Amino acid sequence: MNNRKILGYGYYIPKNMITNHDLEKIVDTSDDWIKSRSGIETRYISSDENTSDISYNAAIKAIDDAGIKNEDIDLVICSTCTPDNLTPSTACLIQEKLGLNDKHVMAFDISAACSGFLYAMQVASMMLMEYKCALIIGAETLSKVIDWSDRNTCVLFGDGAGAVIMKRENINKNMFFYANSEGDNEGKLRIKGPSLKEPLKNELREIGHIEMAGNDVFRFAVRAMSEALIKVLEKADKTIDDIDLFIPHQANYRIIKHVIRKLKIDESKLYINLNNYGNTSAASVAIALAEAKEKGLIKEGAKIVLIGFGAGFTYASGYIEI
Ligand code: ACO
Repeated sequence: MNNRKILGYGYYIPKNMITNHDLEKIVDTSDDWIKSRSGIETRYISSDENTSDISYNAAIKAIDDAGIKNEDIDLVICSTCTPDNLTPSTACLIQEKLGLNDKHVMAFDISAACSGFLYAMQVASMMLMEYKCALIIGAETLSKVIDWSDRNTCVLFGDGAGAVIMKRENINKNMFFYANSEGDNEGKLRIKGPSLKEPLKNELREIGHIEMAGNDVFRFAVRAMSEALIKVLEKADKTIDDIDLFIPHQANYRIIKHVIRKLKIDESKLYINLNNYGNTSAASVAIALAEAKEKGLIKEGAKIVLIGFGAGFTYASGYIEI
């Protein structure tokens, strides 16, 4: 797909930093264990801002960075597995916060877990055949679905949001996406929704929490990231050496190390921030992309590759010429 450009980038992280030492006080874990098994040192969790609030904060930064007005946006796609509500969509809440209720906007959410931002980018890039300017967001408040007594999961995740503005422009730059899903993974990674109620009985049902078979997810992740990366390079007719920066889903440094060793990727071309933020699911690639841009690591003319994997199982990748 050409004639698509990312015009602006933004991210937002909630204020409450939680260190590994803080977690040592609530579960049987250690800073050493968490760092050596995952690479994570801190994560941030939200106390008073829901997914639409942190999304809005990332969105206004992306809009400002793009130099456009809110009114220029006619497509809002939010990828999240921790929406404010089951309905209306988080994208509709973001639309309202941006003052776009009475404008002609299509707004909806995408659920593809940690691959969600890349799914959203691919959908937006295709929808820009008809729409003019897309706000694409990856955002999570995973803290609200974490079981804080489960050391297998509570040490891994964090909250945050990232956003980009993508527009149709008359330029000769390429963007390619690859996405796949392998449905039915026997609940190896899930957040259960409310269960069915007995007819006519007024019982409130609680929403579930993150459940994960870590070792199975680890094996899947290494295979899926490698496949997603190879497939998108094939589509773009590029090799690993052609790429200036790789931005992988920030789940676990050990997973990423396995992949770069297997595919012989130069570690200096990797963008990593999982040590600071933990795994922020759909927000992870979006935050890393916006942060890398802010640090001046994504220059005009650069060729970058984004890679995600997550529950579903889903996986996805994007090749973008900046
Ligand atoms: N602190 C201390 N010990 C722990 C902790 C903890 N936080 N968590 C687990 N352990 C223990 C286990 O109980 C086990 O003890 P045992 O041997 O006495 O039974 C031991 O550590 C080893 O457990 P493993 O699960 O084998 O540890 P592993 O080295 O595989 O690391 C991890 C676990 C970090 C979860 C790893 O499997 C992983 O990263 N998997 C992928 C997870 C992931 O990326 N998930 C996100 C997917 S994206 C999305 O869609 C949300």
